[in-house]
Amino acid sequence: MLDRRTFIGSSALAMAAVPPAFARGNAAMPPALSPDMPVPLGHLPAPFPPADPSLYAFNHGWLFHEGDLPFPAVRGNDQTYAATKAGNAQGAAGIDYDDSDWNAVRLPHDWAIAHPIESDQNDAFGYRRRGIGWYRRYVVFPQEWHGQYLELQLGGMANNATVWFNGIPVAHSLSGYVQQNIDVTPYARFGDEPNTVAIRVDGDVMEGWWYEGAGLYRECWLAVRPALHIVTDGVHATPRPQPDGTWRIPVEVTLNNAGAAADEATVEAVLQDADGHTIAQASVPARAAPLDTNAASMTLSVAKPLLWSPDTPTLYALQTRLVLGGKVVDSRRTEIGFRTTRFDPNTGFHLNGKPLKIKGVCIHHDHAGVGVGIPAALLEWRVRRLKQIGANAIRFAHATPAAALLDACDRLGMMVMDENRHFDPSPDYLAHVTWMVRRDRNRPSVILWSVLNEEPMQGTEQGYEMVRRLAGAIRALDDTRPITAAMNDGMFTPKNGADAVDVVGFNYKHNWYDRYHAAHPDRPLISTEDTSAVMTRGEWATDTARNVLTSYDTEAPEWGLTHHESWQMIGSRPFIAATFVWTGFDYHGEPTPLPWPAASSSFGILDLCGFAKMAYHLRRAQWIDDAPMLAIGPHWNWAGREGQTIKVMTPCNVEDVALFLNGKPIGRQPRTPFVTPEWQVPFAPGKLEAVGYTGGREVVRFAVETAGRPATLRLTPDRPIMLGDGDDVQPISVDLLDAEGRHVPTATDLVTFGIEGGEIIGVGNGDPNDHDPEQGNARKLFAGFAQVLVRPFAGAKQLVLTARVAGLPAARAAFPLVAARTRDVAAMPTVHHLGEWRRTSFAAQAPDPREIYPAQQWRTLGYVRTGRLEEAPVAHGFTLIQGRFVPRRAVATHGGTLRLAGVIGRAELWVDGIKLATKTDRAEAPIVATLPAGDQERVVTLLLEADAGEATGLSRGVAIW
Ligand code: GAL
Repeated sequence: MLDRRTFIGSSALAMAAVPPAFARGNAAMPPALSPDMPVPLGHLPAPFPPADPSLYAFNHGWLFHEGDLPFPAVRGNDQTYAATKAGNAQGAAGIDYDDSDWNAVRLPHDWAIAHPIESDQNDAFGYRRRGIGWYRRYVVFPQEWHGQYLELQLGGMANNATVWFNGIPVAHSLSGYVQQNIDVTPYARFGDEPNTVAIRVDGDVMEGWWYEGAGLYRECWLAVRPALHIVTDGVHATPRPQPDGTWRIPVEVTLNNAGAAADEATVEAVLQDADGHTIAQASVPARAAPLDTNAASMTLSVAKPLLWSPDTPTLYALQTRLVLGGKVVDSRRTEIGFRTTRFDPNTGFHLNGKPLKIKGVCIHHDHAGVGVGIPAALLEWRVRRLKQIGANAIRFAHATPAAALLDACDRLGMMVMDENRHFDPSPDYLAHVTWMVRRDRNRPSVILWSVLNEEPMQGTEQGYEMVRRLAGAIRALDDTRPITAAMNDGMFTPKNGADAVDVVGFNYKHNWYDRYHAAHPDRPLISTEDTSAVMTRGEWATDTARNVLTSYDTEAPEWGLTHHESWQMIGSRPFIAATFVWTGFDYHGEPTPLPWPAASSSFGILDLCGFAKMAYHLRRAQWIDDAPMLAIGPHWNWAGREGQTIKVMTPCNVEDVALFLNGKPIGRQPRTPFVTPEWQVPFAPGKLEAVGYTGGREVVRFAVETAGRPATLRLTPDRPIMLGDGDDVQPISVDLLDAEGRHVPTATDLVTFGIEGGEIIGVGNGDPNDHDPEQGNARKLFAGFAQVLVRPFAGAKQLVLTARVAGLPAARAAFPLVAARTRDVAAMPTVHHLGEWRRTSFAAQAPDPREIYPAQQWRTLGYVRTGRLEEAPVAHGFTLIQGRFVPRRAVATHGGTLRLAGVIGRAELWVDGIKLATKTDRAEAPIVATLPAGDQERVVTLLLEADAGEATGLSRGVAIW
């Protein structure tokens, strides 16, 4: 059994034992993949050790209610008095709420993606209703966690949220793009009494004009650390080059002490290379006063490290350890990279001293099938897919992405423009920027911070002042990366946002590049956003009736440019350090320029699933220069158009291209920079083949062939094996092949799926006009492709996916699952917990346990929580503890069990005036009783008897089920 966080794949070993799972009938040799399909990885990703061993995954066991649950009206002074006390949140926010009919969900979860597409909803959000939702989660903290520091980490809640822990409001989240790290130590309960997390998420709050989804859509964690511990994002280590060619790494480790006494420890920093060899180390004593933080600082020196770059993303692991009494009590692994960056006003970007054009794409944060609730494995897959375009950078528009995405960028070699969402330096929002920088400032991938996108105030003095403050907050935490702002106007006014940044960012306004460069020859310039060309995958003519856009790269909105125009503009100007094409993937929402029924955008180089549009081949031709590249568009299935001329494009990076139809030469063309060779070819079925030459030698070939009738259904996974940890996910491409094994590019058949050993978490096909559900077990192919996302069940040995199309043999793909385990917090069954009680004072005479104290008298009684023992009486005496509850549905219907897990003292248990149990021994013991059915409020009374000096009471939790 493997721990997921110490193991993400033992690819080599597992691969040796497992045949590839490419599934297509019984064919001996798998046919070639279509070049429009994602390139499979073919093995599990490389293993990586845990970055923070204190973390437990907190994604299972959530209960979800869609729709708002208004807080119950509270009437009466006593009730109001009680309702406003810490721990007494009312309704669904409270400890005692009947959530037994809520749905079990696991995170990441986007409830909006399951909604239908409705014409009266907002097109910006893909015509999907969002609304308000509630989540609850019970969690038992084992006794041995008592005294530890406990932090709930909620990765992302779309979009605003309030969080209660044990009935206490512990966080108000003002953005779906910021992780909430919540110290729950003071309110935590241990042993068998569960803790309750309740979250109200407001999905109607708008932070963006794209599909934002709704819900707890990023991963959540529980950190369990010693009282003296390394704080979240508490390691800061940015390698700095020295004039003599060596490097220094100032390491700062921030400690917090949640304990009641000052604690002294040693902080160690050990730098390891990719082979695990220690290459530098240091240690310092550290101390933090109770409830205080303190930073331990040291410096590591490295003589000649291997440098990080998109081509060679060499990472070093900085292990920081907190040692207390000779034992490592807390630690972090921080992946760092050695690289230098420089933005030059004339020569653009330089990485490690060499000029490098930043070939970037902007992306939003959703995917077909799952909306914004993208599991980590799929986030990594998306980064890999963007690398296949030849991109070396991503701008996460227009908000800070999930940490798992940036982990993938560090490992796979993608540079990142890291952006905050709110252009607002007021304290609540400045805190978002601070969080972003503290979390991401060690990452070699992050080369730029961005503080705004196209803000109306960007060209004003107020805008300048706002940028200055946001930039100031960033510089205080990181002085190594430049700051930019993505402006689409106002950069020529006397005082504007561009005056307060290090690198000026242009969104579009292509015609102003030269003017700005001339006006400010000392300012580095990048295109933070450009292109916005639109096309529909597989379509070759813009057709308003069918609501589709041509793929010949002729369509762009008035503010944008085609891929050709944009790259010519930016690629030919060395002073423009970067292009960030809008966008890498299509995204739900913002269907510009297509009207209803289009519900997703058409800007992507890749579609919603990651299938290639023509833009993919065009960009590869523009961006890839270390290997010969050649492609042909369109496909060659034009039945009924025999003899008619078809426009053909052959994007390439070679010197010249020759084209052949069924072996007959059509012609030969040299390639001119920024121009894609085009041809007019009379259609005849068969094979259209292009041959690329450089230096007079053939270096690459590419063909499209007319496919016949579909004969087989093919499933192409990303990987032939998966992890059986219940978290692994992979996309599987679905297409049809003819009898000769040729991909059928025009197929639109309906495919239905069956699965064993796992679940289908989403389906898609990239068609912006398709309103079929994205969650389910069926999807039509669109322009030859569909995608199904599968997740194995935890502990399963094998996942088997079957796919069916009417009239064809079924396809089956089997995936052996490598045993692996997620280190997570056990989910609790829904147990009604009675935590709040009242008590009478000790009296010599036993009070009548049948007496039911009216609510309005409760204020004159004592408040008691389970776990609290009553003070010892002066003389032998009695006290009475009383609690009330309304049974949850199951107990009301069938009756149930009442269990007082720990009672100290001699006791009688009464419910509704009837004695149910007697405890004659004073030692701690449980009392268990059976409850009859009935939905009326119950009154539970515990009559306790104690001798002088004996403490008595409810030492542990009270549960009803
Ligand atoms: C930009 C904006 C993007 C997107 C794009 C569409 O102005 O920053 O978020 O809306 O236009 O072309």
